[in-house]
Amino acid sequence: MTMRDPCDGLEVYRVGGAVRDELLGWPVKDTDWVVVGATPQDMQRRGFRPVGRDFPVFLHPQSQEEYALARTERKSGHGYTGFIVHASPEVTLEEDLARRDLTINAMARSADGRLIDPFDGLADLEARLLRHVSPAFIEDPLRVLRTARFVARYSGLGFRVAADTRELMAQLVSSGEVAHLVAERVWTEAEKALGEPHPAAFFHELAQCRALNELMPELVPLLEEGLACMSVLPDVGEEQARWRWARLVEVLDREAREQLSKRLKLPRAWCELAEQVACTRHLVAESVVGEVEVMRWLNAIDAWRRGERVAPLLALVRLSEPSLADRLAAGWQAALKVAPRDLVAEGFKGAELGEELARRRLQAISVAIQA
Ligand code: CTP
Repeated sequence: MTMRDPCDGLEVYRVGGAVRDELLGWPVKDTDWVVVGATPQDMQRRGFRPVGRDFPVFLHPQSQEEYALARTERKSGHGYTGFIVHASPEVTLEEDLARRDLTINAMARSADGRLIDPFDGLADLEARLLRHVSPAFIEDPLRVLRTARFVARYSGLGFRVAADTRELMAQLVSSGEVAHLVAERVWTEAEKALGEPHPAAFFHELAQCRALNELMPELVPLLEEGLACMSVLPDVGEEQARWRWARLVEVLDREAREQLSKRLKLPRAWCELAEQVACTRHLVAESVVGEVEVMRWLNAIDAWRRGERVAPLLALVRLSEPSLADRLAAGWQAALKVAPRDLVAEGFKGAELGEELARRRLQAISVAIQA
């Protein structure tokens, strides 16, 4: 028996990022669909699974891709959540596209391959312009961050924000709407931006409209220097975004860094890496690096319990100070050879054990880094 395609007879369109990225030749991550002329009951009868809390979105039973009923939205309160959603079979595709943020995100592709582009998204895409669809852009302050994130992604292709869109972004800041965004929303966008090809452009764009002053004021003074250090990283694979952040905030004093982390409700692993990278920066800046400084650094990064932290930090040091990295690596290896269990066998215990361990490690480091 052949299964009936759940989309048979439904009016569906590919929309948003998938249409944009396909036209740009950019890898398409996930595909979103809009369904016109259907009710939630129609969708469920076809086997789609409802997942939307705030608006009617369904997962395709096989592909698991998102199918949203065409809807309109109107602002009803502050921040990202205050919306009145209207979804009904009468809402047209054009009405659905009209509620979207940027023209390049407001194009649709029909099942027979036709491009539906009522807001000239294709022309803006070719002109490399991030332009708002309508004045309703200012109904959603998250769009300030999204737009900056698209700059971080596509500025290598020549994209920039249209002047009148920048004005709306500034308006969203001056009206206080951006300040209403909850930390989690801000951080989700920032984290994504940190993984894009040009993360510095995200912060510069946010500074342009003064959103950075509202959301991450500690970073404002850093922009003048440029944010080049963010791109000087050891090979850290999937943790690239986290390392970029750590390198961004390493120049801040500890208090400012903690204040920023608290306001953004940063995940613990991000705060910890930022502190380790900052400690490493201090070590590299020391005029003399002897056993005391090395020991202090190893203690500060909690190397004894978290030995896996050392190698990537050494790789970071190696980028600017290869001979210091060699000495640190030698010191670390030598300190590792001091085994707590040998000291226990010698009869040390309690506080004395800890003191003797520290003394012998220091001694081992001292010999190793001079060799
Ligand atoms: N959208 C919007 N305003 C928002 C969020 C989303 O107008 N605050 C619209 C845009 O049309 C967007 C689509 O919803 O293209 C899908 O949103 P999302 O999946 O978050 O973004 P994408 O544009 O697909 O971008 P990404 O490649 O980052 O997923």
